[in-house]
Amino acid sequence: MQFRFATTVILLTLAGCGDDRRDERLRAAGPNPSLDALLKVADADAGKRKFGVCAACHNASKGAPDVGGPNLYGVFGQPMGQHSRRYAYTAALIDAGGRWDSATLDAWIARPQQIVPGTSMQFAGVRDPLDRADIIAYLAQQSD
Ligand code: HEC
Repeated sequence: MQFRFATTVILLTLAGCGDDRRDERLRAAGPNPSLDALLKVADADAGKRKFGVCAACHNASKGAPDVGGPNLYGVFGQPMGQHSRRYAYTAALIDAGGRWDSATLDAWIARPQQIVPGTSMQFAGVRDPLDRADIIAYLAQQSD
């Protein structure tokens, strides 16, 4: 019950961002939009708010410490599981051997355990593709 309540609050929080021009942006992206189409209408400011679901475990600002998960500032474009020197990544993520770009981040944010079985990122995932695109736009912006 408690978990369902928490989920509802998160969904309402996401849906409650009425100022993110969601419908307008989805119309602009066209029917059944691809990730590229969604990224063209993605909004880093909306992504910053939506990053709230990640913020329990991640910072994403320059020089901020690792918390439950590694600081994500500058992670965009970097190899998986190597970005934060001090963070104790799982072997599963280090051995995944990929790089964080829009496509890998999108898949990861949707279902981390499916992309990298054995990862310690205990997160159910963000189901909504536009929410993921906004978060990716925000992460891409959080870098030098
Ligand atoms: C409950 C805690 C938790 C939440 C919530 C969470 N993460 Fe994570 N995240 C982790 C942990 C722990 C790791 C390290 C995983 C490993 O080593 O296997 C991680 C790793 C990552 C990485 C890889 C970083 C690198 O240096 O390779 C990215 C990217 C990431 N998370 C993005 C996100 C995003 C975006 C969200 C929100 C949509 C999110 N995470 C939500 C705990 C969390």
